[in-house]
Amino acid sequence: MRRILVTGASGQVGGAVALARPDVVALGREALDFDRPSTIAAALEAHAPGVVINAAAYTAVDRAEGDAAAAMRANRDGPAELARCCAERDIALIHVSTDYVFDGNKGAPYVETDLPAPTGVYGASKRAGEEAVLATGAKAVIVRTAWVFSATGRNFVRTLLAAATRNPTLRVVADQHGCPTAAPDLAQVLLGIADRLEGGWRDGYRGIVHAAGGGASTWHELAVALFEERAKRGEARPVIEPIPTAAWPTPVRRPPDSRLDQALLLARFGLAMPPWRDGLARVVEQL
Ligand SMILES: NC(=O)c1ccc[n+]([C@@H]2O[C@H](COP(=O)([O-])OP(=O)(O)OC[C@H]3O[C@@H](n4cnc5c(N)ncnc54)[C@H](OP(=O)(O)O)[C@@H]3O)[C@@H](O)[C@H]2O)c1
Repeated sequence: MRRILVTGASGQVGGAVALARPDVVALGREALDFDRPSTIAAALEAHAPGVVINAAAYTAVDRAEGDAAAAMRANRDGPAELARCCAERDIALIHVSTDYVFDGNKGAPYVETDLPAPTGVYGASKRAGEEAVLATGAKAVIVRTAWVFSATGRNFVRTLLAAATRNPTLRVVADQHGCPTAAPDLAQVLLGIADRLEGGWRDGYRGIVHAAGGGASTWHELAVALFEERAKRGEARPVIEPIPTAAWPTPVRRPPDSRLDQALLLARFGLAMPPWRDGLARVVEQL
């Protein structure tokens, strides 16, 4: 069996995949950099993997507005070149994408066939990446996830914990709905898909599938659940005040409701994501 290679090793998802299985080859930007496209083929030649999981991306949603060229290189052009190089070598590719390809106005969980309508450069660059990867004809599975948190890296959970050390009251947006996703849970599902692909490619695998924490939440609910978990371990609980999005303006409008339907993950790969609260409890344990 050939090895699994994951990109974006210093990130939340790439790091979780690397930690989940010792035989995974995890490459950071020094070894595979979308800003240096020649590193892509070189990395595949050096490691000759059976499956590549692409968890590298430009993920700074607001910063991307003033940095569109870099976001497009990392989220569209790099993944397209990676997919092309994989296709050339008959390597299967799992490419991670985002709920932010949607505008969040559907009012119900999004299925894979719903029409994307990103609200900013980040979402647009990720959508362009999905299209570019699929256009290469590679053996590619696009896994859209959402609201990722982990015990390391830049994420909502760690930001809130830091804020709570400075303020007894936290104001948290209560009118955006989504699927919080623990990076270690996503890593297990990505590796589960990788195992299916290693077992033999089927054309029915190609395309987009949603994989995010089971159930749904608002940022406010997630914050309350986070500090409930912490309180079980004897930590102080701040007051968490619900506020509307209008009271927390950001350069890019976030989708008000980007819940992802996940029936296809089970139907196509026989896999399911655990409830987000279980993932949260495990991440709090790690913190
Ligand atoms: N975070 C979320 O809430 C969220 C939600 C939905 C979907 N996603 C998707 O999930 C995937 C993983 O996200 P994450 O949260 O793990 O992101 P992350 O923690 O920001 O990590 C991103 C990784 O990509 C690397 N990277 C950035 N630009 C690169 C480039 N030009 N070439 C090569 N590597 C580059 C980073 O390396 P450096 O550390 O060296 O910069 C880092 O290792 C991404 O596809 C993202 O779009 C994330």
